[in-house]
Amino acid sequence: MKEEKMQTEVLKIDRKNIDQEKIIKAANYLKEGKLVAIPTETVYGLGANGLDEKACVNIFKTKNRPADNPLILHISNIDMLYNLVENVNDDAKKLMKLWPGPLTMIFKKSDLIPDVVTAKGDTVAVRFPVDEIARAIIEKANVPIAAPSANISGRPSPTNAYDCYYDLNGKIPLIIDGGSCDIGIESTVIDMSENPPTILRPGYYTLEMIREIIPEVRLDDALVDDNKIPKSPGQKYKHYAPKARMQVYVGKGAADFIYKKARAYSNSGLHVGVLVFEEDMERFKDFDRISFGDRDDLSQMSHVLFTALRKMDKMGVDLILAEGVLDNNLGKSIMNRMKKSAAGNIEYL
Ligand code: TXA
Ligand code: MG
Repeated sequence: MKEEKMQTEVLKIDRKNIDQEKIIKAANYLKEGKLVAIPTETVYGLGANGLDEKACVNIFKTKNRPADNPLILHISNIDMLYNLVENVNDDAKKLMKLWPGPLTMIFKKSDLIPDVVTAKGDTVAVRFPVDEIARAIIEKANVPIAAPSANISGRPSPTNAYDCYYDLNGKIPLIIDGGSCDIGIESTVIDMSENPPTILRPGYYTLEMIREIIPEVRLDDALVDDNKIPKSPGQKYKHYAPKARMQVYVGKGAADFIYKKARAYSNSGLHVGVLVFEEDMERFKDFDRISFGDRDDLSQMSHVLFTALRKMDKMGVDLILAEGVLDNNLGKSIMNRMKKSAAGNIEYL
């Protein structure tokens, strides 16, 4: 298929002094049916007018996204929600306490929404981001903005404008640069059309945190058992994959084990890259290495994970050896991503 090349403009917005002209430009592009990459607190999104069928079809083409993987609609105030969904139950109203923020709720959809957004399904995913730039753009565009992560499908989600540019240069007219995303992994997706509400993708808001608000919340079977088919189509595809092969080690002594492996693989001629916690960085000084930050602060790890995978690719490593974490709280959300990045290659020591 012939691919049209276009000039991609990158517009930087200073968060301390948000330039309304730039917000208006992004909003106008979206209203005209164009695609714009925008920052959010989780990862960058590839935005389009969520009520414009053609623009949404273009998202799928641009990302090379499978057509059966539905999009999230982003709103900038709660009122926008009521046109998009059939009903909002009490549990959803309770969870709105976490809005605006890194939480996506799934509802039965209204007739307003084009089929392409929901992949012909009868539910729609909605998120109210807290990021000020995202909110200002949605508010000005005055339509729900469909936005999957702004990467080519299969690649790690972009957490800064450069990573968006790397994947989308020549494919979209505008990238809004709002700096690096605070959280660094995608929103928690929870299906409110199910009883009990079911987490389909863990994120910054963990099972443990949501349980405090809705005690009966459960995890999708596929998040507990690898042999089950995920309810969220996006979870079944190859995802977050660096170009290099990746192996993850979890448990006491993981750093020692990684050290031995790194020596052995590099002696056999492989270019090895290492992802470990700050305390272990010094001993890996002979290798290409990136720090996950403080072991006791997993929010640093989620913040750097995707950027680190992309940096490893830029360094041209053949093999990434990474330390993983235990599968609870934010660790569960991080391991959900790492498992996919490493194509299931995880060893518990
Ligand atoms: O943090 C985020 O959620 C980012 C930012 C840009 O907001 N967006 C994002 O979108 O991660 P995307 O498209 O990369 O991931 C959306 C996930 C996919 O796994 C998709 O299958 C699932 O949400 N999803 C969307 N609509 C759904 C629906 N109606 N039913 C089940 N899963 C749905
Ligand atoms: Mg994605």
